[in-house]
Formats: sequence, C-alpha cells, structure tokens
Amino acid sequence: MRLSKQFRDQFSQHEMRTHGRKNGFVTTGQEARLLHWLPKIGLPKEKKLLDAGLPDDAPIIMEIGFGNGDFLVHLATTHPDWLLVGVEIYLPGVAKAVGRLDDAGVIERCRITQLPAQFVLTHQVEEAQLDGIFINHPDPWPKARHHKRRIIQKDFAELMVTRLKPGGFIKLASDKADLAEWMRDILDATPGLENVAGIGRFIERDADRPQTKFEQRGIKAGRISQFLHYVKV
Ligand SMILES: C[S@@+](CC[C@H](N)C(=O)[O-])C[C@H]1O[C@@H](n2cnc3c(N)ncnc32)[C@H](O)[C@@H]1O
Repeated sequence: MRLSKQFRDQFSQHEMRTHGRKNGFVTTGQEARLLHWLPKIGLPKEKKLLDAGLPDDAPIIMEIGFGNGDFLVHLATTHPDWLLVGVEIYLPGVAKAVGRLDDAGVIERCRITQLPAQFVLTHQVEEAQLDGIFINHPDPWPKARHHKRRIIQKDFAELMVTRLKPGGFIKLASDKADLAEWMRDILDATPGLENVAGIGRFIERDADRPQTKFEQRGIKAGRISQFLHYVKV
C-alpha cells in the first residue's frame, strides 16, 4: 500500500520548510491506520482547530514534537477530560503515535498533524484557544551556526503566548543543558509569561512524567534532564 499523493498533500507530506526529517519508513499496517484515522482526526492545512469537531468545554492541550507518541498517549490516558493536539513533522512518528493512541482507545479525543508547529499555531489555532503546551526534548541543534533552527526562538515564544488562554501553561524538558538554558532565557524574557520556579530557575521533574525516548537516551549518555514550567499571566 502507498499513501496517495492526494492523501499526503492533504494530511501528511508538505512543501513547508522545516529543519529536521519529515519522511521515513512506514509499515503497511501503519499506512492503513493513517488512511483510516487521519480523515477523522487529522488537521489538514486548510482546517482550523475550531472546525475540528472538538467539544468546546474541555481543556485543549498541545504537544509539539511528540516523536513516537509515548508522552501524548500518557497525557490522553491520564487526563480523560483533556483534548490533545499532537504536532510532529516526522511521518513515521505520526504513524507510530496514531497506532498507539488507537490501541489505547483514546484517539478520538486527539487531533494529529504532520505540519510544522509554527504553521499550526499561526494559521490553525485561534488566539487564547489552548490551555497548555508541552515540548519535550526539542532538537538541540548544538552547533552555534544552527541555533537559529531551534524551535524555541523569541518570535515562537511570543506566538505561543498569544495562543494560550490566560492561566494556560507551557511545560518543557531537555536533557541538553545548554538548550535548557537557551529555552529558559528566552521564555523568562517573554512578556506575558511567568516562570513558576522563579526567573532563571528550573522545576522538579513531575512525579508522574514518563521517560520519553529522548529522555531515556539522555540518561543512557549520563545526562540529567531539566524541566521548565511557565504560566501565562
Ligand atoms: C529530539 S525529538 C524528541 C521527541 C520526543 N518529544 C521525545 O522526547 O522523545 C524532537 C522532535 O521534534 C520534531 N520537530 C522538529 N521540528 C518540529 C516542528 N517545527 N514542528 C513539530 N515537530 C517538530 C522532530 O521531528 C522530532 O520528532
């Protein structure tokens, strides 16, 4: 089975410029699930989250760069009242997450997109629509000349703030100390955000937080993850 060009254009592969891989191997079984679920819970680029058939009385929480979907499944299963929006540019990650959400029986409370988070937040999410945003272990882009590729930038931080409801949160994790400090410094300086731990500080790891694939990689390499928690004031 192959995902048709029309299907890819609508739900999956996209011409938008991103840093990081978009394509990779997807099994026939995964393709079948994508074909079944994305027309129901996908967010094609012309559709707004407002028109995605979500009930209007439940908290909407977004995870950006969900990787293989472990954390998204955790959020969906531990918060049965939340509606989840998963944003991930890497098709095999989207395929794995769709399978896991389906197996866990929580997929109908989720909306999933392979579009880049910058596009989704700018064009598909309304102002003050989100109750929370999670970003776990974003790509570190360690070389100084690649720092501009990091997802947390001044403009992106300001964009996230506009999409959050007052009182909404942003929670981040990184196992790379310099990236954790980069994110903290940008978010500490972003108007409208309060660092729950205090300026310049990190929070303790949430006790119920599962180890994501990249947190586990960090642990194996001897790195300690750091966590950030902001609230829109
Ligand atoms: C280092 S991985 C971390 C994955 C997962 N959150 C974890 O902790 O294991 C970063 C992820 O962010 C995704 N990503 C990078 N840029 C993105 C963007 N602009 N929008 C959405 N996802 C993005 C990548 O494809 C990748 O899966």
